[in-house]
Amino acid sequence: MIGKFITLEGMDGAGKSTHIPSIIEMLQVRGHEVVSTREPGGTALGERLREILLHEPMHAETETLLMFAARREHIARVIAPALERGAYVLSDRFTDATYAYQCGAKGVTGSKVHLLELWVQSALQPDITLLFDVPVEVSMQRLSSARTPDKFERENADFFTRIREAYLQRAEQDPTRFRVIDANKSLEEVNVSVANIIATL
Ligand code: TYD
Repeated sequence: MIGKFITLEGMDGAGKSTHIPSIIEMLQVRGHEVVSTREPGGTALGERLREILLHEPMHAETETLLMFAARREHIARVIAPALERGAYVLSDRFTDATYAYQCGAKGVTGSKVHLLELWVQSALQPDITLLFDVPVEVSMQRLSSARTPDKFERENADFFTRIREAYLQRAEQDPTRFRVIDANKSLEEVNVSVANIIATL
């Protein structure tokens, strides 16, 4: 038995996390076991690394290595066992975020991330990735009215523009895996788009 691996991606403020409860419900109604998780995090060690990653200034490559350290643990303890028993794994972010944030926005070389990806994931890739896309001004506007920003959320418009471009470029390169959702709409409209995609899984 093999389950399905679904990932959610997008800039901070794109609103992806809001849709997690309804995605879980849609899948459960269809009788699937759903494991909902996140990155960085998803394990006890990963959550400790998340605290450091989100609040401690560090070199961009250190950040990349810690992201993959957390990911290795996440795959070993959560993602792989769940997929093996046939569950649907829903992860709020995965490796596309490393390509968008650490490569796209912070300049880490893509080939280095690719090496880590091969090492840590072997052949594991998401079956489907929902990319919540919003213009940078919208994401920044949403963030400014939300909670206290973390290290990433305090960055400027250029940083977010590079993230958005990196995500869209990845989506263009892998149209089979990616579904780009226009998240600059009402919650209800975005929810309908999400439901339509989930219905096809
Ligand atoms: P996020 O899902 O935005 O958490 P929250 O909604 O609780 O703030 O993720 C936290 C941050 O981690 C986000 O700004 C993106 C960043 N991140 C990376 O820079 N690289 C990665 O590989 C991952 C998984 C996340």
